[in-house]
Amino acid sequence: MSETTETRRPANRVQPHELPASLRDAGLTNWIREPLDDAVDRRRRIIMPPAAAAMGTPASAYQGALLAEARHPDTVFMMGDNPALPAMPPRPALSDFFGLRFSKIARTHLLQSARVARENGLDEKVIMACLLHDIAIAGLLSANHGYWGAQMVTPYVDEEIAWSIEKHEALRYFPDESVGYTYPNAYIDYFGPEYSPPEYIRQEAEAARQHRWYMTSRLVTINDIYSFDPNVVVDFDEFEDVVGRNFRQPKEGLGFDGSPVAHMWRTMIWPNNFL
Ligand SMILES: [Fe+2]
Ligand SMILES: [Fe+2]
Repeated sequence: MSETTETRRPANRVQPHELPASLRDAGLTNWIREPLDDAVDRRRRIIMPPAAAAMGTPASAYQGALLAEARHPDTVFMMGDNPALPAMPPRPALSDFFGLRFSKIARTHLLQSARVARENGLDEKVIMACLLHDIAIAGLLSANHGYWGAQMVTPYVDEEIAWSIEKHEALRYFPDESVGYTYPNAYIDYFGPEYSPPEYIRQEAEAARQHRWYMTSRLVTINDIYSFDPNVVVDFDEFEDVVGRNFRQPKEGLGFDGSPVAHMWRTMIWPNNFL
């Protein structure tokens, strides 16, 4: 056994109690973090699956069992920094969320969409909207992502950018042949060939089409790269100038500026907090 391994497994440190088989068999170990070998705090940390992720899945049946686990003194719920995630700086900027929180696939999608918008010579508002359009999927929630994403950035961007992010949610389902936008092939894979958007989405798209900013949001859908190349790396720094001019970064950091959406950014900093 190497010296490093010896240091990582101190003999005088006990593991938390054995998990009941009902939790192990249910696959809930994915939500339970055992202490790292070299951790000072030897307690097990449980992540309670959030309602939006657990509802309609077997995980929702285990809330009570997970709550019961926290009664053991060697077990607590996850609060604050999850050691599995990279630490965020005390005053996080937009670039920190891109680099330290957003999944690689979502980050690549956003950066490639923004790059294509720039290569197409589009207005900075469109480039910025493309860069931000799916940040809710990247760090918060997928369902209704256009609406969540628009709210998250509303205090920091021009109203037209937030509007176009919100409306891309509905517009992406509806072709506009006059500007070369067709229904995405990827959606046939994602939703099946028979999928038809609900009535409220139809109404939203219809209203957006009549709006003076329609084309800004339509351009987000046009530059939305559905079949992007995961091997093409686009650096966030490529958009530093656009972000500097179009995103009002709060000096206290995103999540700590007391804005009506600060809690959304804090949720991405500490996504596993029990409460
Ligand atoms: Fe989207
Ligand atoms: Fe997208």
